[in-house]
Amino acid sequence: MSNFVKPKPHAVLIPAPFQGHINALFKLGKLLHLRGFHITFVNTEYNHKRLLKSRGPNSLDGFSDFKFETIPDGLTPMEGNGDATQDIYPLVQSIMTNFLQPFDELLTRLHQSANDGLIDAVEEHALPILFFSPCNASTFLCTFQFPTLIRKGLVPLKDESYLTNGYLDNKVGDWIQGLQNFRLKDLPDFTRITDPNDLMIKFITEVAVRCHRASSIVINTSYELESDVMNALYSMFPSIYTIGPFASFLNQSPQNHLASLNSNLWKEDTKCLEWLESKEPRSVVYVNFGSITVMSREKLLEFAWGLANSKNPFLWIIRPDLVIGGSVVLSSDFFKEVSDRGLIASWCPQDKVLNHPSIGGFLTHCGWNSTTESICAGVPMLCWPFFGDQPTNCRFICYEWEIGLEINTNVKRDDVEKLVNELMVGEKGNMMKQKVLEFKKKAEENTRSGGFSYMNLDKVIKEVMLKQF
Ligand code: UDX
Repeated sequence: MSNFVKPKPHAVLIPAPFQGHINALFKLGKLLHLRGFHITFVNTEYNHKRLLKSRGPNSLDGFSDFKFETIPDGLTPMEGNGDATQDIYPLVQSIMTNFLQPFDELLTRLHQSANDGLIDAVEEHALPILFFSPCNASTFLCTFQFPTLIRKGLVPLKDESYLTNGYLDNKVGDWIQGLQNFRLKDLPDFTRITDPNDLMIKFITEVAVRCHRASSIVINTSYELESDVMNALYSMFPSIYTIGPFASFLNQSPQNHLASLNSNLWKEDTKCLEWLESKEPRSVVYVNFGSITVMSREKLLEFAWGLANSKNPFLWIIRPDLVIGGSVVLSSDFFKEVSDRGLIASWCPQDKVLNHPSIGGFLTHCGWNSTTESICAGVPMLCWPFFGDQPTNCRFICYEWEIGLEINTNVKRDDVEKLVNELMVGEKGNMMKQKVLEFKKKAEENTRSGGFSYMNLDKVIKEVMLKQF
């Protein structure tokens, strides 16, 4: 009898160095690990330091076959305590110019050979490439169609006047199959660039071209959520899979040995969970604008007084770097007004908060992770999209799935008050709650054994294994 033991398959996961991208890929890492993969998760040095700081120095040890590696981000270290979201443009620029060599060195270390170019490196190491979209399928479709939009002269916009002259109200169905009801303003905001030399044009175009070189494409979404878009994508890519929502997968196996391992770069304040215990079921508005959104002091005050005037209990996460130009400006009058019903913290375990029975609604910036986590917890939303893919997610939440209400970009306290009350105690809020519970149920069906996303994950794993051995 042979003593040969087949080695564990090994997946190297490298996210774009932003919290939302890290969290999504981290969850995929957990899913692959739970299916027998050895995982190497690659963060930038800057983010890895933050991860260790937020979780404690030894918190990442002791997980056999789930290891961490780092590569430098190529930027000069930030001043101050180095615990903030880095500026996107310099970071994207740096990824494009500085990531290849350290990534190649890492692969060589892990795989014992050498060459150049990120995708090229992986190809030369003869490894199957899995392209993972942390955003939804619609954003992936727009990214992939980006060179076509440029060729047709739709992007970049001719000048700034096109942002306000009604042009963005045009439907996009003629140009992008699968997004029939969408207007230009509902697409990710990289389609609204006016400067032809904008770095994002080069970046998105490169991503669009390179995604063709992946052996499989996986998206953290489900077929039900984006069926038209997925039907369009199936006709373009032979190996594209919906394998989400991840939150539902992980909610269904909460006791696994990786449960304590997470990828939050800010220290979590868990006291808010105790505070939620003291509140009535479905009575609390949870407010969180994710990891990148910033706003002016004026806008923060509109949200603050809108929440206070609505009289509902609220848990509001205000990141230290949320307000442009400095610290938060909430007055003692505000704190006096909400002392019996408001709690402010700087970062929380969002999955646990959303799944707490006291939470009745989520005021969100519509990041895709937050959107899917809210659906998987059965919580309806108030939407204030900020940038990137968030307008597209907002369009789905409010108008396609009807599980949320939109707040005007130029937010006013009276609107916040009215919409919060509609969400929490109004008729529309109640209808949205019923609908989101249906989506939650479908997500659970999809991600349990035999469900569509569950089987897709199996298929992807089989594809990767066939190419690896
Ligand atoms: C941005 C984009 O908007 C998003 O669509 C894209 O996929 C990634 O980049 P971000 O602003 O980080 O994302 O928002 P989101 O996608 O919602 O991700 C935030 C993550 O941080 C979520 O997983 C959320 O659970 C977690 N989080 C956030 C916490 O755990 N605690 C907090 O207090 C805030």
